[in-house]
Amino acid sequence: EKGGWDSFMDKEIHEDPAAVQRTLLGRLDKHGDINLDEVRIEPHDFKAIDKIIVIACGTAAYAGMVAKYAIEHWVRIPVEVELAHEFRYRDPILTPRTLVVAISQSGETMDTLMALRHAREQGSKVLAICNTQGASIPRESDAVLYTHAGPEVAVASTKAFVAQITAAYVLGLYLAQVKGAMFRDEIQSTLDSLKAMPRKIQWILDTQAKAVQKAAEQMVNAKSFLFLGRHVGYPVAMEGALKLKEIAYTFTEGFAAGELKHGPIALVDEGEPIVFIVPPARGRNVLHAKVISGIEEVKARGAFIIAVAEEGDPDVERYADVVFWRPKAPTLMSPLVDVVPLQLFAMDMAKLKGYDVDKPRNLAKSVTVE
Ligand code: F6R
Repeated sequence: EKGGWDSFMDKEIHEDPAAVQRTLLGRLDKHGDINLDEVRIEPHDFKAIDKIIVIACGTAAYAGMVAKYAIEHWVRIPVEVELAHEFRYRDPILTPRTLVVAISQSGETMDTLMALRHAREQGSKVLAICNTQGASIPRESDAVLYTHAGPEVAVASTKAFVAQITAAYVLGLYLAQVKGAMFRDEIQSTLDSLKAMPRKIQWILDTQAKAVQKAAEQMVNAKSFLFLGRHVGYPVAMEGALKLKEIAYTFTEGFAAGELKHGPIALVDEGEPIVFIVPPARGRNVLHAKVISGIEEVKARGAFIIAVAEEGDPDVERYADVVFWRPKAPTLMSPLVDVVPLQLFAMDMAKLKGYDVDKPRNLAKSVTVE
């Protein structure tokens, strides 16, 4: 069943490119426009949507956070992302024009299911982004957009994450299409960038795995890690931190790089490993410069810098102790590649420590209790 891999996690990380590709498949018509007839929400209802609230837990919530940056930019409507268990017990402001998007790999997460019931009771439409056909969450939703990542067996979510981002991006671009929020050629070129991502993920798997393994060997005894990113790199940092704590049982903290000076920099000590997600040096280079200055600050305090950065970034070459390179990709597409070395890193660390990467202690694949 593992098809030659020594763990499901290994196999599933190597299915990241296929997960993105299959999730895009069949969602474009012969003119290259997005067709979401399958979700059974009428285009005019979609057109009326003026706010999105994503409800999810764990990795699925980080996928939602990534999508927030993209959808707000493309569609110009507010997108909130809320942990399902928090949403459920407050008094959220929902209107019939609010679209609630429940993201769940298993489709059985009780916290997310309860939150979606809470939203529907108040008259909002719920669209599920789910990887499991016929599970409770898609069954109880008004509409479903399936991720076609294939069954995910390892407890730590990997290929489902990239598939969830892809599905949420398709949804966002569809909304931009029906609302006329973007020009047709802008939508087309964004879709082209998305279609190019499986090949870029494959490049990471083919060329960066050795560097990741070496880094894991070098850092296997580290007591803690910090993960930092800005913009879409922020949820990627959170996800990288979650992977490492889940399966390698290493204490990690992920946060927005801009927060460093507001407190966390006090944690930085000689040799502290800090993972930075570095945005592309082109285009949004304000962000790039900010992240680099964060690297300089912690480097001056003796931190050990691990960077995920675009090929050939000269600033990163200057400061980082270890680099996992990514091929050039637009900022909004970069999470699909940046998460991959972090998935591999967590897996390699766990294996080096002799842990069962597929079945970490204390965790279940789907959390069916509140
Ligand atoms: C992380 C992980 C969990 C799940 C979370 C939601 O690797 O597996 O954080 O992402 O429990 O699960 P689903 O997506 O099944 O609702």
